Amino acid sequence: MSVSTAAVDRSVRTPLPVLGRDVTVPLVTGGEVTYAALDYAASAPALQRVWDDVAAYAPYYGSVHRGAGYLSQLSTDLFENARRTVAEFLDCRTGDQVVFTRSTTDSLNLLATALPEDCEVFVFETEHHASLLPWRGARVTCLDAPDSPRAAVTALERALADRDPYGTALVCVTGASNVTGELWPVRELAAAAHAHGARIVLDAAQLAPHHPVSVRDLDVDWVVFSGHKLYAPFGSGVLAGRADWLRAAEPYLAGGGASRKVTRGADGGVDVEWHEGAARHEAGSPNVIGAYAIASACKALTEAGFEALAAREEALVRVVRDGLADVPGVRFLSLFGDEAPRVGVLSFVVEGWNSSHFAAALSAEYGIGVRDGLFCAHPLLRRLLGGDGRAQGECGAPEAASGEKSLNAIRVSFGAGTPDEHVERFVRAVRELVRDGARWTYRTVDGRCVPDVSA
Ligand SMILES: Cc1ncc(COP(=O)(O)O)c(C=O)c1O
Repeated sequence: MSVSTAAVDRSVRTPLPVLGRDVTVPLVTGGEVTYAALDYAASAPALQRVWDDVAAYAPYYGSVHRGAGYLSQLSTDLFENARRTVAEFLDCRTGDQVVFTRSTTDSLNLLATALPEDCEVFVFETEHHASLLPWRGARVTCLDAPDSPRAAVTALERALADRDPYGTALVCVTGASNVTGELWPVRELAAAAHAHGARIVLDAAQLAPHHPVSVRDLDVDWVVFSGHKLYAPFGSGVLAGRADWLRAAEPYLAGGGASRKVTRGADGGVDVEWHEGAARHEAGSPNVIGAYAIASACKALTEAGFEALAAREEALVRVVRDGLADVPGVRFLSLFGDEAPRVGVLSFVVEGWNSSHFAAALSAEYGIGVRDGLFCAHPLLRRLLGGDGRAQGECGAPEAASGEKSLNAIRVSFGAGTPDEHVERFVRAVRELVRDGARWTYRTVDGRCVPDVSA
């Protein structure tokens, strides 16, 4: 596989320019096309602005919180300013903490280590695995997928009403589904949680890149998100919110940076006093470039204006839905109904096609990158596809290790850097593939469909 770029096409208009807009990829059928990156929900391309900011800072890179030199001081300032920018971006309350982590997964695992003893956790089965799995040391109540936002609130209220009113509880909920793109009633769920003495953490991995997230307005206790989905793919994520549980918890990682004072213990061992602020959970040398990149993305998105970004995305969602409405066998996945408000994330199945085969053909024959699979949301996908019973096309249905039949879906997702042409090409490609079939032959390698280049 080789990497090639052509001249930047200046006629391509997007709300926010991203890297990769001029990358071309080979087609298995011959020739090259500009790559249509339609997998933003997995990882979005870096904003040009983020890249430029990082490149401008790179020569000044230095250690954070541990150097007397000018560049160490400058890098420390940048890191702490990034924390303030994120707090502003999330409209945090006075006293809230912003902890830089590696990702949403990391943030939720950190919070899981800070749960008070006997804390009960409530999740919906619709969550991403990152929100479903970190709580395994706690008592977890998993609620069935609701069929409307209202039903979600009612289900949570019921579940919370049954719990021990004197115990602590945490609700973990997504702001926008990584499968259906649907928006969840976060404010109402937060109100329900608080009315029953529970706290709530918002998984904003898919929401923050598309909509403003206000901790104050939504009245959530914590928010988590990932830089790489927010156009800042430099290895950082965020956990922001109430300080008390974080302050009371053991440091997430033990080491330098988290410790204020380390002494030889009277018993011959080692004693430590930990920091109380965000540093308590940021042991080791912080990822200043990752934090700086997130702050740069926060500023760029805020300046572009979420209202304009969301309106354009809604228009692109409409292009997909209207463009495929009359295509036989295409079924979009949804919990709350086809017209429910959503971000630029849509999953679907095509009758008679193995989703891996379909996604491989979109890539190899049209230069379109989407995702196929179960999107790290197995219970939700099982719920949405369970009774489908659709035929699997060629390339074979990948069987799960358990022997359970794996019915996969296809996901298309986009955002602030997506040109109209990419979405239009996607619609054209789906229509052509359903009408005419693939032009190439594919085979299964390690459970995935790939073009058969020996053909
Ligand atoms: C809703 C949601 N939550 C959590 C995650 C996990 O994010 P990360 O892989 O950056 O930790 C994802 C990733 O796809 C997601 O979509």
